[in-house]
Amino acid sequence: MAKYKKSTRKIGILTAGGDCPGINAAIRAVGKTAITEYGMEVFGISSGFLGLIEKDYSRLEESQLSGILTFGGTILGTSREKPYKKDNSGEGKPDKPKLIKRHYQEMELDGLVCIGGNGTMRTAALLAEEGLNVIGLPKTIDNDVWGTDVTFGFDSAVWIATDAIDRLHTTANSHKRIMVIELMGHHAGWLSLFSGIAGGGDVILIPEIPFKEEIVARYLLKRAKNKKPYSIVVVAEGIPKPKGISAAHYISQSIQKYTGLETRETILGYIQRGGSPSPMDRILATRYGAHAVELIASNQFGLMVASRNGKITSFPLNEAGNKLKTVPTDFPLIDKARKMGISFGDK
Ligand code: F6P
Repeated sequence: MAKYKKSTRKIGILTAGGDCPGINAAIRAVGKTAITEYGMEVFGISSGFLGLIEKDYSRLEESQLSGILTFGGTILGTSREKPYKKDNSGEGKPDKPKLIKRHYQEMELDGLVCIGGNGTMRTAALLAEEGLNVIGLPKTIDNDVWGTDVTFGFDSAVWIATDAIDRLHTTANSHKRIMVIELMGHHAGWLSLFSGIAGGGDVILIPEIPFKEEIVARYLLKRAKNKKPYSIVVVAEGIPKPKGISAAHYISQSIQKYTGLETRETILGYIQRGGSPSPMDRILATRYGAHAVELIASNQFGLMVASRNGKITSFPLNEAGNKLKTVPTDFPLIDKARKMGISFGDK
């Protein structure tokens, strides 16, 4: 058995917010680097910040980290617990951040790795201000975390969504139909933009580009008139739409109303969040996780790990604030798509 360098350092890992493929790869990278390279003790905290509030955690041995690289989801579980969110029934309830700080101290942690999206990074930044040694790792299928070029989970979701769009082409062609597919992404259009292009979408509607129903209809009628047997419309869940209906239903109803063309809708939903991570997500999660431990080992805290121009770096968590990374309207891929005749419903 390899003798690890002994260190008195103890680090905790938690996973919070929506799950995605690659989280276990990140947990594995943090754990293996900490244990193997630095001889640290590693603790897995259950269900995101809830686990810190309830002091629900357990020691992670190196053996428990083997075999999880390819597992989707998170072995620690997750929650959308927001410790700083004021709820009106707060009277008399113990202050959650105070509980977290106390349990962090009772666990004698020297560092805490928080794996999550925007909300998690905001909570991590606030805990860092309270003196906890925190490192944030950005994950989400939405790729909307400010400050990093890409989050792990995104590449896997693009693969899943692209496969789904590929499948829609064959059935749309058989029936000469318009196929509308709604993808996740929260308030950002990254997943729909990338998957729409990868999947050969004809129309791509994202929150960042205001569209007009009539323009979409006119584009689809023109395709039909030019003997295009079918069309694929990729819609981000976050586009402006009437209350109470899905983006997919809104757009498919609109297309049928304005064009009379036979239209069907698919909401891909949580499939995009499931299953084994893509190789690139495994690599990105591994790079992020290892870098987090190197920061801890060199006593650097209050940072979010990020990838910028292909390099792994980090920056102060409080720099992100409430900023969301949405698709810039001058993003080069949009211009390339337009030049190929893809419509964004705006002209
Ligand atoms: O943030 C990831 C995400 O899948 C979004 O794309 C989606 O809008 C949201 O989570 C769904 O949230 P929940 O998992 O709480 O239903």
